[in-house]
Amino acid sequence: MGLPEFWSLMILAGVFAGAMEIAHAYDRPPPREDFAVLVAAYADPTTPQQVHVSLAGENKMRISWITDKHTPPIVNYGTSSGKYEHSATGVISSYEYLTYISGEIHDVVIGPLNPNTVYYYSFATGSSSTPEYSFKTPPAQFPIKFAVSGDLGQTGWTKSTLEHISQSNYDVFLLPGDLSYADRIQPLWDSFGRLVEPLASQRPWMVTQGNHEVEKIPAIHHTPFTAYNARWHMPFEESGSTSNLYYSFEVSGVHVVMLGSYADFGYGSDQIRWLGSDLKKVDRSKTPWLVVIVHAPWYNSNYAHQGEKESIDMRVMMEGMLYKARVDLVFAGHVHAYERFVSHIFIAPDLKRFFLQINNRLSDHLTSYSCRIAFTIKKLITAGRCISQLGMEETEKVLLPSIKNHSHRYRYLGKRVLVMANLRLLMEVMQSGRGIEMMTMNRLNLILFG
Ligand SMILES: [Fe+2]
Repeated sequence: MGLPEFWSLMILAGVFAGAMEIAHAYDRPPPREDFAVLVAAYADPTTPQQVHVSLAGENKMRISWITDKHTPPIVNYGTSSGKYEHSATGVISSYEYLTYISGEIHDVVIGPLNPNTVYYYSFATGSSSTPEYSFKTPPAQFPIKFAVSGDLGQTGWTKSTLEHISQSNYDVFLLPGDLSYADRIQPLWDSFGRLVEPLASQRPWMVTQGNHEVEKIPAIHHTPFTAYNARWHMPFEESGSTSNLYYSFEVSGVHVVMLGSYADFGYGSDQIRWLGSDLKKVDRSKTPWLVVIVHAPWYNSNYAHQGEKESIDMRVMMEGMLYKARVDLVFAGHVHAYERFVSHIFIAPDLKRFFLQINNRLSDHLTSYSCRIAFTIKKLITAGRCISQLGMEETEKVLLPSIKNHSHRYRYLGKRVLVMANLRLLMEVMQSGRGIEMMTMNRLNLILFG
């Protein structure tokens, strides 16, 4: 995949009526320039850079920052500006990639923290140029607001996306892979860290990896994900995973599974074993929502990224597990276009499980199978207008005949996040256009940015 050249500001122009889709032409705007964010003019080698925070187990937050020269991995924090009642000490690491040597990467877990509370924090650098930061912890209960955007990169379009995100007053950011697009040029990781710091230092950013994070070079740099794993430590230990490339976390009644498209997902793999065990642990009375994030989409009607093993093979390996666990939503990135699917599952007569990809290429095959479509969507409102209120039986009645003309595919081109929805509950599209779509689903707020 190339750089995220541009993103649409597609305004939903189609109004769906029943099982009819009306698609409107969309012209992508031109690419915007790449750029890099330099070290602040006031900074010295001990000034913290690239500060970001992430959830790290119940009531805890991980704080990460980088300095060019050694400073202790100590965070001072409290609920009043300038008054730090608490202190925590963590660890320092660094990495090498070809001729590049990273700065000191500081990693400190703080807590226990109160929910829905603003904390002020600073670092024991000994430098007069160490600013104070603050973040807000997520709420303990619904409603919670997630912002979701993948394939960020570092272009003019990234800048506008981040501006949209910053205006959304979200609680937790979910990033389905492809962060910096450094693509082996390591200083671009530092630039990306500086670019996102204003947001990522204020709210937890929960990420998973994409293809641009691999950065392995045959015979030269054997280890994949060197920079990603060093810089974006996610709470895999806390969720019983052995790899930073797949993990889960729980926040405000939502269990979020972050999958690794570019980690081993084959038979007997650690990721498959971990996923099975993690899904078994989900307690729907505690976390009624179950959300999965993955980079390479398992369904995609775009011309780009068709037939990739990370999509097809992973779907074969995992989709049945997600279906059995009654996952509510799957978000993916990778394809730089926005699509949203209603839920679907495909089961052939020989009991092998296939999932239904509803597009021109596969639709002709549908009638040759005795398939069951498990739609559980109750209500779909698009652009603020209710188009249908369908229970399971009614949905099958209405939508099964429409498969032949693909009319139950809801497609909004031009955004970054692909959503495969296995919606059990109410979905409402509250706002559409200008690259922002907000869905409120049973008090779960999702904002998708493009
Ligand atoms: Fe990608």
